[in-house]
Amino acid sequence: MKVLRVAICVLATLALVALAAWAYLHSGRFDIRADQRPGGLEQWIVSTLRDRSLARQTGDITPPEPFDAPTVARGALIYADACELCHGGPGRQAEPFAYGLHPVPPSLDSPVVQDGTDGEFFWVIGNGLRFTGMPAFSGLYDEEDRWALVAFLRRLPELLPADYAQLISGAGVDPSGEGPYGDPPASGP
Ligand code: HEC
Repeated sequence: MKVLRVAICVLATLALVALAAWAYLHSGRFDIRADQRPGGLEQWIVSTLRDRSLARQTGDITPPEPFDAPTVARGALIYADACELCHGGPGRQAEPFAYGLHPVPPSLDSPVVQDGTDGEFFWVIGNGLRFTGMPAFSGLYDEEDRWALVAFLRRLPELLPADYAQLISGAGVDPSGEGPYGDPPASGP
């Protein structure tokens, strides 16, 4: 009998907790705005989900070949087009709207970001990160382009503004090769 009473108490407590959670979710009291730092519990849940998910899915992703200079140059051009607006670049600020996101997009040359593996970068660029403003780019850039972005990100910490400016001027991209977005468009007659 005692066991039954304990079981009923446990079930009743669980039901109450579930009801309280349901009532909270429906109450509108959760502040969904992006321009306010979330509470500790939310930050812990999101960072745990993110870290565990990345560790589980990216462990065996490695670059198909070592990064060379033309690959870095190709990555730089894509970066200037698609990433700089949120993450900034050497000597360049992100667009003002990026500071209204939560989390604010980090500088990708920072030691904490560079601690991530090549596989994590590749995966995040392709699939994006839920609960953040990081978009998934696999529909826009093929694997080669995404690896070129990773190659460029690895060079970021040592790049001076002048090096970056030179890279994004298109110098260094093999003119006879593919353009940064696949085959160059057929030129006129
Ligand atoms: C609309 C804004 C936006 C754009 C555009 C964007 N990002 Fe992000 N990115 C973010 C945000 C926000 C995060 C999440 C940061 C966090 O979790 O703290 C992020 C995270 C990342 C991370 C993971 C950083 C880490 O903490 O390990 C990488 C790598 C990254 N972005 C690369 C890129 C690349 C490469 C591009 C361009 C192809 C790009 N991003 C374009 C907003 C953006």
